[in-house]
Amino acid sequence: MAGNRLRVGVVGCGYWGPNLIRNFSNLTEECEVTMVCDQDTLRLNHVKRLYPWVQTTTEFNDVVGSDQIDIVVIVTPVSTHYDMARRSLEAGKHTLVEKPMARSTEECDRLIRLAEAKGLVLMVDHTFIYSSPVRYARELIEQGALGKVQYISSRRLNLGLFQKDINVAWDLAPHDLSIIMFLLDAEPAGVNCQGSCHLNGQEDVINMSITFSNGSFATIHNSWLDPNKIREMTIVGSKKMVCYDDTQPNEKIRIYDKRVEAPPHYDTYAEFHFSYHYGDVVTPYIHQAEPLKVECQHLIECIRDGKTPLTGGRDGMKVVQILEAASLSLRHNGGHVLIDPAGNHMLERAGHALHAA
Ligand SMILES: NC(=O)c1ccc[n+]([C@@H]2O[C@H](COP(=O)([O-])OP(=O)(O)OC[C@H]3O[C@@H](n4cnc5c(N)ncnc54)[C@H](O)[C@@H]3O)[C@@H](O)[C@H]2O)c1
Repeated sequence: MAGNRLRVGVVGCGYWGPNLIRNFSNLTEECEVTMVCDQDTLRLNHVKRLYPWVQTTTEFNDVVGSDQIDIVVIVTPVSTHYDMARRSLEAGKHTLVEKPMARSTEECDRLIRLAEAKGLVLMVDHTFIYSSPVRYARELIEQGALGKVQYISSRRLNLGLFQKDINVAWDLAPHDLSIIMFLLDAEPAGVNCQGSCHLNGQEDVINMSITFSNGSFATIHNSWLDPNKIREMTIVGSKKMVCYDDTQPNEKIRIYDKRVEAPPHYDTYAEFHFSYHYGDVVTPYIHQAEPLKVECQHLIECIRDGKTPLTGGRDGMKVVQILEAASLSLRHNGGHVLIDPAGNHMLERAGHALHAA
C-alpha cells in the first residue's frame, strides 16, 4: 500500500481492460494503477499514451512478482483466468477476475479455497450487479411490489464480437445469469440449452431455460448473429411486471401495472374465465452511476473493511455451474440437466439420470 492507497495491476488491456484502468485510476483517493500488463505491445503503447506514469510490461510474472501491487485485475480471455488468478492469489494479491470466473466449477472451487486460505479478497466482475436499474428492480422485488416473481426472460443479442475460445453462452449469459440470480436470490435446479453454430464451430446463438429451487423459471436468448443490439429483461410478477431495457439512455425500467388472475373458485367450465388487469405504466427516475466505478469502490471497501464481496468467488462459481450444465445440455440437444444443491450436474432423460457430468 502506498500511504493509504491500494496499488492496482491490470492484466489485459484489449477491449474491456481500459474501462477498469480508467475507473481504478479515477478513484484517486483510494487507489492508483501502478502497472498494466498485456502481451500485445500495441495495446500497452495505447495505455502508456493515456497514463504515461503507469509501468507497462508484457510479462504476467512482473505483476505477481511486484511488491508495488496489492490488487491484480485479470481482464484476459477466459482460458487464462484460472491460471492467472491462482498465481495472483498465491503471490498474496487481492484478485478481481473477469466473467466468466473460470472454465469449470472445479477451477472456481480451487480459487475460492485458495483465497480463503490466504485471507484475500477474490471478486468476479459481474458488472450489472452494480448497476442502478438492476438494483432498483431487486428493491421492487424485495418490497413485494411485483408480487411473486413467476418468471424472468432475458435477451442479449448483437452482431459479434465473435470469441475464439468460448461460445456465445459463456460470453454473454454470465451477465443474464448473474442478474437473474441476484434478482431471484435462489439456487438453480435445472438447465436446458439448445444452440447452433454458423461460423467458427462455437455456438453463436443459444436458448437456455433454467428452473430454480424456489419454483421460479428463467429463459435466456443470446446471439452474436443479430442485426440489433438488444439488452432486454422482463420480470413477470403476480401483481406487476417490469421491463428493463439497458440500451435506453434514461428510461431503463418500466413498471407495468398489469396482471392476469384466475378465478379463486368455479363450479362449471363456463364460469372459468381469467380476469385481465390493465393499469398505469410507470417509468421511475433512477439516479445512474457507472456500474464499474461502483464495483471498483466496492472492491476497495471489501479489502479495507473486511466486507464480503457482492460478487465474490461463490457467485462467480454459481454462474459457471449453470454454464457447465448448459454446455452438457447443448451436447445432448437440449436435454434437461439437473443441478443439485452442491452444484453437481447430471443429464436427465424421461426422469432417468443417464450420464454424470
Ligand atoms: N464485464 C463486462 O461487461 C465485460 C465486457 C467485455 C469483456 N469482458 C471480459 O473481459 C475479458 C477480456 O475480454 P476483451 O473483450 O477485453 O478481450 P480482448 O481480446 O479485447 O482483450 C484481451 C487482452 O488480453 C491480452 N492477453 C491475452 N492473454 C494474455 C496473457 N497471457 N498475458 C497478458 N495479456 C494477455 C490480449 O493481448 C488482449 O489485449 C473476458 O473475460 C471477457 O469475458 C467483460
